[in-house]
Amino acid sequence: MKFFIDTANLAEIQEAYDLGVLDGVTTNPSLMAKEGITGEDQIRAHYKAICDIVDDKVSAEVISTDFEGMIREGKELAKIDDKIVVKIPMIKEGVKAIKHLHSEGIRTNCTLIFSAGQAILAAKAGATYVSPFIGRLDDISFDGLELIEQIVHIYQTYGFSTEVLAASIRHTMHLIKCAEIGADVATCPLKVITGLLNHPLTDKGLAQFLADHAKAAGK
Ligand code: E4P
Repeated sequence: MKFFIDTANLAEIQEAYDLGVLDGVTTNPSLMAKEGITGEDQIRAHYKAICDIVDDKVSAEVISTDFEGMIREGKELAKIDDKIVVKIPMIKEGVKAIKHLHSEGIRTNCTLIFSAGQAILAAKAGATYVSPFIGRLDDISFDGLELIEQIVHIYQTYGFSTEVLAASIRHTMHLIKCAEIGADVATCPLKVITGLLNHPLTDKGLAQFLADHAKAAGK
């Protein structure tokens, strides 16, 4: 299973990278705005800075919602770095744009996926990734993890090469369940990745080991 970090914050990306477990980054317009990144030049420079930290995929989202605009933006984003994956929303024009970008060899991540039907469409259009949003489904009392399970099953049944990128992950149990279900990738905030480190018995055990060592050493 691959781990992506879901942020546009360079310090957080660096911290996850330094841990040695990071496979990529996802961003969205809200995350870029949170970092105060606006304007074409600043956005390009920020994506380049992200690509310079990580070894692999960086999802960069288009703002346009019309076919021509998405193609133009997608091509511009793809030129920034080989690691860029163009993030396209799950709308009618988006499906057409995914198909077109795929035919030109540009990787895409179809975002805002909330149903299995949408995931089938994106895969048929040639999306490299689909991003079903678990947390936002849970927020409205739909089981986000059930959707991941459904999509994994459908893709396996038909041999779709599109990868299931579980998104909108809110806590470590989401991440662990996604691993059990067989999601190809999980994108999460830094606190979810580092949250996997924690167990009170680890802390207690380590404190005991160190105390016993100190006692034996006469400290
Ligand atoms: C995915 O690519 C999205 O950026 C993200 O996971 C959305 O998560 P949120 O629901 O926490 O905003």
